[in-house]
Amino acid sequence: TGNVTLDGGFTNTASCTSAITYIDGDAGILRYRGYPIEQLAKQSTFIETSYLLIYGELPTPTQLAEFEGRISQHTMLHEDLKGFFQGFPRDAHPMPVLSSAVSALSTFYQDSLDPFDKEQVEISTIRLLAKLPTIAAYAYKKSIGQPFLYPDNNLSLVENFLRMTFGVPATDYEIDPDLVRAVDLLLVLHADHEQNCSTSTVRLVGSSQANLFASVSAGINALFGPLHGGANQAVLEMLERIEKADFSTDEFMTKVKNKEDGVRLMGFGHRVYKNYDPRAAIIKDTAHEILAKTAGGDHLLEIAMRLEEIALADDYFIERKLYPNVDFYTGLIYKSMGFPTRMFTVLFALGRLPGWIAQWREMIEDPTTKIGRPRQVYVGEGERNYVPVSER
Ligand code: CMC
Repeated sequence: TGNVTLDGGFTNTASCTSAITYIDGDAGILRYRGYPIEQLAKQSTFIETSYLLIYGELPTPTQLAEFEGRISQHTMLHEDLKGFFQGFPRDAHPMPVLSSAVSALSTFYQDSLDPFDKEQVEISTIRLLAKLPTIAAYAYKKSIGQPFLYPDNNLSLVENFLRMTFGVPATDYEIDPDLVRAVDLLLVLHADHEQNCSTSTVRLVGSSQANLFASVSAGINALFGPLHGGANQAVLEMLERIEKADFSTDEFMTKVKNKEDGVRLMGFGHRVYKNYDPRAAIIKDTAHEILAKTAGGDHLLEIAMRLEEIALADDYFIERKLYPNVDFYTGLIYKSMGFPTRMFTVLFALGRLPGWIAQWREMIEDPTTKIGRPRQVYVGEGERNYVPVSER
């Protein structure tokens, strides 16, 4: 079957060309459409960054207002789609609820699923950006048994999401601008990261010409895994385990280094960043600011800082070039904001959505795109003869 090269985990195989996100893992550089992540984190907003990723340029004031206006007209869910949430068990994890609801969008918008019709792709893009925060908030409300709030389209995307998540009917929800800004920043930092596991999934599913909703739903499922987006939840669970355990932080690190029961220091290491993760550098300061304000020196933050301190000075981590990644601190921030642990990966999904959309659109618009179909190296039996069951 010709020459095939084995590259499990695709550590050295480019699956596409892309003009969206640039990463230099050795230098710790991340840019969206050429703009350094540090500048976007400081000066842009999630909605503007979404526009940049999807359309390739920063919007003019008119373009931005139009984009926001269109999104705000599509934030509501079809009443029948709302019914879906009642079908899940009360303790359902919000990630599979999120992917199921996004998959179900294909059934509600059957007239706009053609990947090659620009207008249909455009309206699907707007619907996804508008509805995912509503779906996410409802997944949470369902899990705590509270009523769903309709979106309030006078609010920004992030304000609306916070109100639908934490607000209750007939009671004013006071919007804390610092909280809005912090959530917005976290979403910007997660907005794209080139060909990671979930984005590659979105592209691979989309390469069969599956529609945008189907492709993004698959991406959400890929993000759910603990080695990918699930890591922020895993970090917090790890910190809580250490806090309650009868072993010390230092003893935990010994377990990690001895690879006891396959335990890893969650929130450390990255396939591409071998120097530092620039997102982690930005988020670390935010973590300290927010935790100082809300929890007054949270004990879990102390454990996290001790883990980091040990790791950065230890040969095991130095030799393997393991540094804190974006997820090492985000869990602590989300927790102090009042999000339950199970919502952490949902927040990652909200942030990554514009990246998935941008990458799917780039793939569909590229005339050289072929269906993704990796090869394999077969290591099974050679040809052998069938033996009837009575003779085995
Ligand atoms: N703790 C302890 N050892 C580790 C860790 C860790 N977090 N990460 C990697 N190693 C070791 C690994 O055991 C291996 O050691 P050895 O050479 O002795 O076999 C070596 O470092 C190389 O690791 P790898 O698994 O071959 O590296 P990878 O590029 O396949 O994996 C990773 C990258 C992110 C999956 C991995 O570092 C990991 O599992 N980290 C913890 C989970 C995590 O934080 N994930 C979030 C990633 S950032 C956000 C996102 O993109 O989702």
